[in-house]
Amino acid sequence: MAVVEAARTNTIDLVVVGPEAPLVAGVADALRAAGIAVFGPNAAAAQLEGSKGFTKDLCRANAIPTADYERVDTAREARAALDNFGIPVVIKADGLAAGKGVTVAITRDEAEAAIEAAGDGPMVIEEFLQGEEASLFALVDGETALFLASAQDHKRVGEGDTGPNTGGMGAYAPAPVLSDELRAQAMDEIVRPTAEAMARNGTPFSGVLYAGLMLTDEGPKLIEYNVRFGDPECEAIMPLIDGDFAELLHAVAEGRLAEIEPPQLTGEHAMTVVVAAQGYPGTPTSGGLIREIEAAEQVEGVTVFHAGTALGDRGLVAKGGRVLAVTGVAETFANARARAYRALDQIDFADGFHRRDIGWRELARESA
Ligand code: AMP
Ligand code: GLY
Repeated sequence: MAVVEAARTNTIDLVVVGPEAPLVAGVADALRAAGIAVFGPNAAAAQLEGSKGFTKDLCRANAIPTADYERVDTAREARAALDNFGIPVVIKADGLAAGKGVTVAITRDEAEAAIEAAGDGPMVIEEFLQGEEASLFALVDGETALFLASAQDHKRVGEGDTGPNTGGMGAYAPAPVLSDELRAQAMDEIVRPTAEAMARNGTPFSGVLYAGLMLTDEGPKLIEYNVRFGDPECEAIMPLIDGDFAELLHAVAEGRLAEIEPPQLTGEHAMTVVVAAQGYPGTPTSGGLIREIEAAEQVEGVTVFHAGTALGDRGLVAKGGRVLAVTGVAETFANARARAYRALDQIDFADGFHRRDIGWRELARESA
């Protein structure tokens, strides 16, 4: 495998496998087999993200709180399963779908249309959960699971959380809705039992486990797992991590989490705004010129992350749907937000757009 060769040739100490597709494809397995330290789960453990059905069955077998569900293989079975659920109901295609493939149907007709559109193939039909969503990030080294951080993201393309779903248009961290008590409950009832079950089944999970939670009246329930840092959640969390992050990742890779100081956060707040190319989440305009990134980076507490950029003959240009992520960090969300938007106002990118209302829920709470 090319990654293994490159790691050997360049005497790499630690490989961090970021996205889900190479993890599901077994890149971490190949590196481990070659004796190279790697942060990220093997293919068998990446099923926690790769197969929604796998995760639902694991939850059921281990009494991990999640929405009630049925796995089906054909559209016919899916339609029949609808009788066992109320409305709204959630229809999920099984397998990696890059954030798509989930329909929250608020009428029976809509549910049937979603099944029709999905065609035959494995699906999960799921009870609709009511509550606010929060994301929890835990480091897991097979045995030990440690809380790292929390965040909330904005999935919809439009302001007021409207329009089609995207990979994420903004995020903030921490997520105050995930109180210390709820966080402890989620670690004890969801994350640790998952890590233990994976280890017992001979497929220990090593890496970052991103639990998408619904905070219901009955407590936190698992919506889904990702086996990686979310994007743009990652860009909101990174500036808040105190201490040597590479050392943390290395400790996970070497199974030393129980021996180290648990990860610490600075106590500050971060707000991340994604700049996307016009057209996203459809076909994005490519090649638009981006200027004044340096000016944006001059704003105190601001980091500009490149996601889909390239250096062309004329300078920096857009290459991809989500182009930049701009993070502001400060003592409060209001100030973090002000810093992020002050930086955004510096950036000259005619073919780009961003949401002006990232963090609106939290800002309403902060000022209440
Ligand atoms: P997923 O890809 O599983 O994270 O689903 C995408 C989004 O659909 C989630 O972030 C939720 O907003 C919503 N969703 C998924 N499952 C449920 C559920 N059982 N109840 C309510 N909303 C859900
Ligand atoms: N922002 C959601 C994700 O990375 O899955």
